[in-house]
Amino acid sequence: MGIPILCTDLEKTYGRPGGPTQSVLKKLSFSIEAGEWVVIMGDSGSGKSTLLNILAGIDPYDSGEMLLDGRSWGPLNDEDKTLVRRRDMGFIFQNYNLFPFLSVYENVALPARINGRHDREAVHSLLREVGLGDKHAKFPAELSGGEQQRVAVARALIHRPRLLLADEPTGALDHLTGRKILELMTLLHKEFRPTIVMSTHSMDAARYGTRILHLRDGQFVPSSGL
Ligand SMILES: Nc1ncnc2c1ncn2[C@@H]1O[C@H](COP(=O)(O)OP(=O)(O)OP(=O)(O)O)[C@@H](O)[C@H]1O
Ligand SMILES: [Mg+2]
Repeated sequence: MGIPILCTDLEKTYGRPGGPTQSVLKKLSFSIEAGEWVVIMGDSGSGKSTLLNILAGIDPYDSGEMLLDGRSWGPLNDEDKTLVRRRDMGFIFQNYNLFPFLSVYENVALPARINGRHDREAVHSLLREVGLGDKHAKFPAELSGGEQQRVAVARALIHRPRLLLADEPTGALDHLTGRKILELMTLLHKEFRPTIVMSTHSMDAARYGTRILHLRDGQFVPSSGL
């Protein structure tokens, strides 16, 4: 079952002290229930990736509070965050972040290995489901952008995370391939009910979610306000 998220007055500002600063998230408050599939939409630069990176604990926030599974995330040290991230989270990065010296197979198998649940058939089966059954021995540099994105999707799903953070997971894919990936996510969402937070620019992709949040000027606004 998925992880619930509660954020209160979350703030994030970029810039150096004394220099120009940019307030990206402004006292953002929201709650996401366990098992929801929340879609975050907003213009380029509106802060979607920033928010997802904060939820993953990859980037720090400046103030406010974030509860994951009822547990305050702020005071956790990096080691504890890494443990939670490895065990409970899957992250599809906007720029894929695959390990360049690992094969497609090893990229996908890694989170399962770390969690002591490596199963060769499960890796091959997931690779087939994302349409890369014949590419398991290749390296990321030998793949197209869309193929790399599908490796990133498989890597984020292999250990059945309780929280899937998906940053434009179909951004590099053609319509049909994108739909296949979203249908795979739908299947897994039905099966083990992870919480999903997904950013996208595509209204078609957004329809797969259970709720849409619109980000503008560092805050969520009603869709009619766009
Ligand atoms: N590491 C950083 N240092 C300084 N500014 C940053 C940093 N990361 C992001 N920003 C700024 O924060 C704002 C939000 O960026 P973010 O990547 O979250 O947008 P986004 O909504 O994901 O956009 P896109 O749809 O293009 O992916 C941008 O104006 C960006 O310039
Ligand atoms: Mg982004």
